[in-house]
Amino acid sequence: MGRVALVTGGSRGIGAAISVALKAAGYTVAANYAGNDEAARAFSAETGIATYKWSVADYDACKAGVAAVEAAHGPVAVLVNNAGITRDAMFHRMTPQQWREVIDTNLTGVFNMTHQVWTGMRDRKFGRIITISSINGQKGQAGQANYSAAKAGDLGLTRALAQEGARAGITVNAICPGYIATEMVKAIDAKVLAERILPQIPVGRLGEPEEIARCVVFLAGDGAGFITGATISANGGQYFA
Ligand code: CAA
Repeated sequence: MGRVALVTGGSRGIGAAISVALKAAGYTVAANYAGNDEAARAFSAETGIATYKWSVADYDACKAGVAAVEAAHGPVAVLVNNAGITRDAMFHRMTPQQWREVIDTNLTGVFNMTHQVWTGMRDRKFGRIITISSINGQKGQAGQANYSAAKAGDLGLTRALAQEGARAGITVNAICPGYIATEMVKAIDAKVLAERILPQIPVGRLGEPEEIARCVVFLAGDGAGFITGATISANGGQYFA
């Protein structure tokens, strides 16, 4: 059996493509999800990838969830922090709850998950932490003060952990997707997407989830051992950082 890879939010959207690509590359994959049982069941039936339900926003649930994954499959060698939510609103209308929910899942969730696997990776002298941030964590986005703050926070966390993990054989990297054809992006008002967002993408289209998954497989491999603390942008030329 290959190394164990755990993908949060791994049964839908970009996460599902990542789970499938890692399995195709020989990893034993466990996909976490938070809410959509039906999608998770369908995903497992279609791909043969085991799914596990818990919220990354809940530290104790992450601890129990990772323990269950490791009991079933063995130690996690690759963690992909992909789970993320949006609660878009212009700032003057953003509620404390919208702020908190996004920070709890998209930023604290990365702490909650990485903390569960870090000591084991240090002991085994190998690990790959790959966090899916966002173009909007790099450039900021009107209507996404919460999301932009969380995703920028993910980049700071990545760079700090890269320094801590380097001597223990752990690489820690981030990928910043641009606008990818998933339910999250399709939920944007069609007029906003067509008139405000698409014209900003020089490649002239949304990205595909598989285009992000290929970046993850690259960073997870032994051949990427010298890359740490890096951010890979995959955004169709929308923003250079
Ligand atoms: N920059 C500056 N001002 C803007 C703006 C922008 N980009 N967009 C809207 N505004 C202004 C409007 O002009 C308007 O101003 P006035 O009141 O003075 O006319 C005001 O903000 C309110 O605009 P709306 O009527 O559009 O407000 P709304 O409440 O109906 O909608 C919104 C607000 C939900 C945030 C909507 O604008 C929206 O969906 N924006 C897109 C946000 C976005 O890009 N989300 C990405 C989701 S996908 C994702 O997150 C994945 C990823 O990682 C990329």
